[in-house]
This record gives sequence, structure tokens and C-alpha cells, in this order.
Amino acid sequence: MQETHGLRIPFAWSDRHPVFLGRFLYIPGVYDHHIWKRIPWSDSRFFGNDHPVHIEFCSGNGFWLSEKAKKHPEINWVAVEKRFDRASKAWSLAQREKLDNVFVVCSEAVLFCRYYAPLDSVSEAYVNFPDPWPKRKDAKHRLIRKEFLEILQTILKKGSCVTLATDDRPYADRMIREFFNNPSWKSTFPDPYFICDFPDFGISFFSDLWQRKGLSIHYLQFKLDL
Ligand SMILES: C[S@@+](CC[C@H](N)C(=O)[O-])C[C@H]1O[C@@H](n2cnc3c(N)ncnc32)[C@H](O)[C@@H]1O
Repeated sequence: MQETHGLRIPFAWSDRHPVFLGRFLYIPGVYDHHIWKRIPWSDSRFFGNDHPVHIEFCSGNGFWLSEKAKKHPEINWVAVEKRFDRASKAWSLAQREKLDNVFVVCSEAVLFCRYYAPLDSVSEAYVNFPDPWPKRKDAKHRLIRKEFLEILQTILKKGSCVTLATDDRPYADRMIREFFNNPSWKSTFPDPYFICDFPDFGISFFSDLWQRKGLSIHYLQFKLDL
């Protein structure tokens, strides 16, 4: 049984299954039974209203998303983070701040989009500082790859954007190539297809860390143009 930041998974690993725990959905990674009806965001297990949904993948401790949720209570914010310790920290922050418009999903991003997230339902997506996995042998671990872009477009509404931030210039270039290889996505920024100054984008644990070290942040944005 796992317990972190006051959140407890109420079964042993051998009995694992997806479970709603208040404003938290736990989806086990190593698990062969992802047969699940895609539950609408308006269902009371998620938000219980039909406000627009913005989603952040790789949300870490949830600081960036909580700040957005405070400024934009008219939007429902979904944090998707695969590590239970970080996801539960994001959940506990939202609980402390009484943010009814925040929902945390502890899941691997592709898995959540493929089996659980409602189709054609998300108005904006964000990926802040996805792990770059610079070595060729680790390429399969990079989130921004063909498979993710194909599955992401199934849950986003037509005309929606995904915005990405990275300190890692080689990964920025790789991400741009991946998006350009998929005709459904168009960069909203002209060549070189990123900007380094994005006023009011917000601060995350990693943006703060890298900016204090003097690193530039590269912001990319692609529109779903089916
Ligand atoms: C460098 S951290 C960035 C955290 C946060 N966005 C920030 O800016 O502070 C990357 C996070 O992405 C999570 N992550 C990596 N691959 C993921 C995936 N495929 N699905 C969901 N989360 C993932 C990691 O567990 C980690 O918490």
C-alpha cells in the first residue's frame, strides 16, 4: 500500500486497478486491464460541470498548474503526472488551496490519453519541461514522439493548441521535428518555431530552477489543424 502527502492507495500492488480518490485518479502503470469507459469531465467524479478543460502533462509537483487554477477559476485544470509521490504532492497543494477546479491524474501520459481521457474534449494542453532523455538508447522514454502526438490529437478539440517549455535546445529541435512530421499540427510561432520570452506563462519548479541558473527557456506552440 502506498501513502504520500496524505493520499493512500487503498489496496496492495497485487490488487491494483484504476481508482478515483476524491479529486485524484490513480491509474496503475504495470497493468493489463485498461478497459474503461471514457468518463466525461462533467461527471461528478471529475469536475461536475462543463467548464473548458486545460490539461498539463508531466505536471510534477503541480505548482504551475495550481497558480493557473487560482487565476482562472472558470477553467478546469487537469494535472497528469506518472510519479505517485509528485502527483500526490500536486493533489495535496490543490486541497490546501481549496482549488475545486483542479483534478490530478497519476498516470503515464500516453496511457491516460489512449484509454481514459474523453475524446475531443480538451481546449488547451501544456507540457512543461518534459524529460529530454538525451541519449539515443533512451529515445523511447521521450514523451514528445510520434505516438504521443497522434494520441494527443484525439483528446484535443480542433483548433486547440499545445504549448511546451524546455531549457534543452536539442530537445526543442527534436520536438519541432516530431510536430512537423505530423501534418495535423502547425507551429503558431514562425521560424525558428520557438520563443524565449513568454510573458505571464507562469513559474514551475523546473522553470524557476533553470532560470536561476541563467538558462534560456524555449517555448513551442502547435495548433491542431485537422
Ligand atoms: C523535469 S520534470 C518537470 C516537472 C514540472 N512540469 C516542472 O516544470 O516543474 C518532468 C516530470 O515529468 C514526469 N513524466 C515524465 N514522463 C512522463 C510521462 N510519460 N507521463 C507522465 N509524466 C511523465 C516526471 O515524472 C517528472 O515529474
